[in-house]
Amino acid sequence: MDATLAVILIRTIQLALLGLAVTLSITSHLWPSETPVRDGATFDFIVVGVGTAGSVLVNRLTESGRYSVLGIEAGVDPPLESVLPALFLFLPSSRYDWNYTSENDGYTAQTHKNKNLELTSGKMLGGSTSLNHEIYCRGFPHDFDLWVEAVKDQRWSYNNCLPYFKKSEKLEDEAILKSNYKDLHGLHGTVGTTREPHDITNKYLEAFQEIGYETVLDTTESLGYSEILFTIANGIRQSTAISYLFPIRRGRKNLSLLKETLVTKIIFDKNKNARGVSVVTKEGKSLTFRARKEVIVSAGAFNSPKLLMLSGIGPKEELQKFDISVISDLPVGSNLQDHAAIPIVYRMEKRFTLIPIPPSPFKFPLPGIIGYNALNKSQGYPDYQSFGFIFQDPTTLILICTFVFAYNDDICNTLHEAGEGREILFNIPNIAHPKSRGSVKLRSTDPNDPPIINMGFFSDKEDLENMVLYLEDLMRIENTTLFKKVGAELVDLHLESCSQYEYRSKDYWRCYIPKTLVSLFLYTSTCSMGSVLDAELNVLGINRLRVIDASSMPTITSGDPGASVIMLAEKAADILKKKYYGL
Ligand SMILES: Cc1cc2nc3c(=O)[nH]c(=O)nc-3n(C[C@H](O)[C@H](O)[C@H](O)COP(=O)(O)OP(=O)(O)OC[C@H]3O[C@@H](n4cnc5c(N)ncnc54)[C@H](O)[C@@H]3O)c2cc1C
Ligand SMILES: *[C@@H]1O[C@H](CO)[C@@H](O)[C@H](O)[C@H]1NC(C)=O
Ligand SMILES: *[C@@H]1O[C@H](CO)[C@@H](O)[C@H](O)[C@H]1NC(C)=O
Ligand SMILES: *[C@@H]1O[C@H](CO)[C@@H](O)[C@H](O)[C@H]1NC(C)=O
Ligand SMILES: *[C@@H]1O[C@H](CO)[C@@H](O)[C@H](O)[C@H]1NC(C)=O
Repeated sequence: MDATLAVILIRTIQLALLGLAVTLSITSHLWPSETPVRDGATFDFIVVGVGTAGSVLVNRLTESGRYSVLGIEAGVDPPLESVLPALFLFLPSSRYDWNYTSENDGYTAQTHKNKNLELTSGKMLGGSTSLNHEIYCRGFPHDFDLWVEAVKDQRWSYNNCLPYFKKSEKLEDEAILKSNYKDLHGLHGTVGTTREPHDITNKYLEAFQEIGYETVLDTTESLGYSEILFTIANGIRQSTAISYLFPIRRGRKNLSLLKETLVTKIIFDKNKNARGVSVVTKEGKSLTFRARKEVIVSAGAFNSPKLLMLSGIGPKEELQKFDISVISDLPVGSNLQDHAAIPIVYRMEKRFTLIPIPPSPFKFPLPGIIGYNALNKSQGYPDYQSFGFIFQDPTTLILICTFVFAYNDDICNTLHEAGEGREILFNIPNIAHPKSRGSVKLRSTDPNDPPIINMGFFSDKEDLENMVLYLEDLMRIENTTLFKKVGAELVDLHLESCSQYEYRSKDYWRCYIPKTLVSLFLYTSTCSMGSVLDAELNVLGINRLRVIDASSMPTITSGDPGASVIMLAEKAADILKKKYYGL
């Protein structure tokens, strides 16, 4: 198969799945249905976006039944390919994705189809946890020290967040449950977590051990390499739609829910109190709803800043460009962070089983390992994180190359060729604490227009120099017994635009890194605590308005932030309950 055929194949399967979803509604019994609400209706709380954080909030805020909550989601119910853990390949560029892309900055992502990045982001109940890669990471205590520093509030220290990590987790992995690592985890929470160990990973764990990275059972809070802990349990993706909405699928007293409804503006009174929202429904009707207590924005790291700016909260100069009257002048949309990952791909041993075993739909589709590495051996937190995925079948490799990372056909065909007859180790190291920042800005005042997104990857040159060091550190693996024995080779991606540099020299990597980077889709910090929000997630200079989602994080955690977004929403729900329910 080549890259063009891969595109046709995925499109065909996506259409078939769409047909199934529309004609059979196979999954609709899993989710709460819509509730009729009339124009002008009043609720205690309005939650904008029933995604990752929003699902946690509508559940927790309706637990007592004492307060009324309206959840408004722009997307639809998650389809079968969201519920089955192996099928995330079919969700990007579908009706379940906002289809946002980064701007072509002429520097990064030049080996991608459109010289930009496809910034997949969930548009359905459960939001991005309904299409993400299901990797459970918490970050390290040090990450939360950085939050405390930014917010100047001890409430965000790791120890003070830990009860909420535990509240939201239900560890179901037998080996970890039998180990000392058990105590780090939640055992009775909402989001099920398990590993899927594969024998084939052992040799790679040993190789990393040989270059000084310890093999551990569980990398929650530990440096070193391990098998991956997933938000998968009983063969089902543990999106927040499954973990927080499925249990209340028959409805709850005082919970109202709207789907396929876009919030277009937050409404304020003249004293800067948020009073409600304007929406456009799936039938195209414009309605308004009122909030007696608070409006909570949980629309994700691209759409939360967009909605704030459309509503008059943002950088004054930006808003004035569009004649939006400024209600609070704040650095909304700046401080965008993500982990850019660099592919370091090896051709490993010959494969003897030429017919690949098809992956189970109930599992993560690939064997893989996860590592947290520090160059300074006495430092307790990582400088870089790295995944190593093992491909035993070039077809899966080309599908992921084309559909998850959207590389151009030359790169995908090179990788495919490298995988013919050989096992592939696909490493994606990424900086744990990037210094570069990107931005989200308005394109226009039309709420249907995508925002202008600049990821800003490697705009801080210190990141580039550090990444070169991390790649060199990782590539020491070439000198291990395993790599020597099987005659492992680094796959040369034949970057013509870097051919003036000596292959594998520092200058070569300085050229290679920006061109080949991928986003890991971990966008955070566009309305961050410490600059746009206070420590209780209130928007500064405004009353009765909070932002509670990945945008609220002061800095991205090392590794994937999904678990931290859920923790943050759980903690925020308690802040709200304490204020209004007197708990
Ligand atoms: C492809 C991909 C892979 C990832 N892999 C991992 C991983 O393996 N592990 C991990 O920990 N993290 C992963 N992440 C990141 C993680 O999933 C996100 O950080 C997290 O889910 C973000 O949660 P959120 O609440 O901020 O936003 P979201 O979950 O995106 O929720 C926002 C919701 O608001 C809705 N919305 C937006 N605007 C409006 C509006 N105007 N009106 C009404 N509704 C609106 C959206 O439709 C969406 O449902 C991945 C993300 C992606 C996209
Ligand atoms: C729903 O919430 C309102 C407050 O908004 C409260 O007065 C009412 O009693 C609640 N209804 C139920 C059934 O608990
Ligand atoms: C994203 O793009 C695909 C086709 O490329 C389209 O089918 C889908 O409807 C788009 N999603 C949204 C939310 O518009
Ligand atoms: C290594 O880390 C330790 C502990 O954090 C620190 O004291 C030391 O200064 C670091 N060394 C270097 C060379 O950065
Ligand atoms: C492998 O070891 C040799 C000898 O120590 C060294 O020169 C070389 O740089 C190492 N290779 C890598 C990729 O680190």
